[in-house]
Amino acid sequence: MTIFSLIYAMFVAVFSTVGAYMPVNFDIKVEPAVFDCGGEYYSVVWVTSGKGSGYVTYTYEGKEKTVWETSGGLIKTDDTIHSVQIPKSELQGNTYKVGSQRVGFKFGYNAFKRRTVESKEYNFNGTPKQDDIKILSISDVHYMEKKMNKALSYITEKPDIVVMLGDFMSQMEYKSDFVKYVLGNAHNLSGGEIPVVYVRGNHETRGEFGAQAIKYMPSETGEYYFTFDFGSLSAVVIDSGEDKEDDHKEYSGLVDFATYREQEYNWLCSLDASKFEGAKYKLAISHDPTLTDHFGKDWTAPLNTLGVDLIVGGHHHQSRFIEETVPVFIDGGKLGDKVWAASMLTLKDGTISMYTVDNNGNVLIDKEITA
Ligand SMILES: [Fe+2]
Repeated sequence: MTIFSLIYAMFVAVFSTVGAYMPVNFDIKVEPAVFDCGGEYYSVVWVTSGKGSGYVTYTYEGKEKTVWETSGGLIKTDDTIHSVQIPKSELQGNTYKVGSQRVGFKFGYNAFKRRTVESKEYNFNGTPKQDDIKILSISDVHYMEKKMNKALSYITEKPDIVVMLGDFMSQMEYKSDFVKYVLGNAHNLSGGEIPVVYVRGNHETRGEFGAQAIKYMPSETGEYYFTFDFGSLSAVVIDSGEDKEDDHKEYSGLVDFATYREQEYNWLCSLDASKFEGAKYKLAISHDPTLTDHFGKDWTAPLNTLGVDLIVGGHHHQSRFIEETVPVFIDGGKLGDKVWAASMLTLKDGTISMYTVDNNGNVLIDKEITA
């Protein structure tokens, strides 16, 4: 060992040991939300103020388990957003907490590590109900969180699951947009205690970070479209993508939704209807719910084959129920510069109830259909 490598090794050893106890501005910036993206796993996602590791700790069958955020066996240390996949069967009805350690840099043979932060313990009520399922449906926030919270104050019943139906922002240029408006709202709406289903809005495709967000919420298809079950509910999540043709000037020639839509449509047509047969309630959830002519194809035909009772969406900045072959419910969101509406769906006794209220306490829709 040369004198230089000896000095270097001593420096790294001293810094990494002492550094762990040095004060440093490292905290949990956004508390966790538990995303359901279909399949057998939840994604627990939170954000720290600096780069570092991430882990989720919970107790299952009497044993404490810690699941690290890893890639190919390596604990990831290069990001501020942390996403850990936990089997649904192990998290439902359980408690958990998240933790991260600041890792300034991981060298080839050592690392600068500093303080570890942990969240409080969360009670995750993700146990799917068989009936009386309450779904909080929120779309088109477009930075109107204050009015959204006011509208939510008129909904007194607690939801069992949250559907974030897209367009929480108007563009997703930076990671900070995703952190604040998707992950921040996901935690605020769910309290980290119930599952969140995220459905991409067309405005969340706009900007450079739009292509990055999917990696934190891996779905069973690898894309923003998937199916999920919640007790007696089976749902198809459709990614309606952008709302104009690919050659529109707003997209700068940097989209290929034509190919994406073709893949998604083929996936939708390939879904096995027998998988949905046992479900008491069947929903399709799509940011843009206008699917009878979705870029030249009738997407409601395969939904009808699956026996879907209702398409739930937003995008149109309306509060509306449309009676069609597959009925459509548009859940409100931004209805004007000063008006914003939230919706709760209740699946109970073989019926689907839709309730929409705005930030002034006006009830815009109170309607029930038979599933
Ligand atoms: Fe939209």
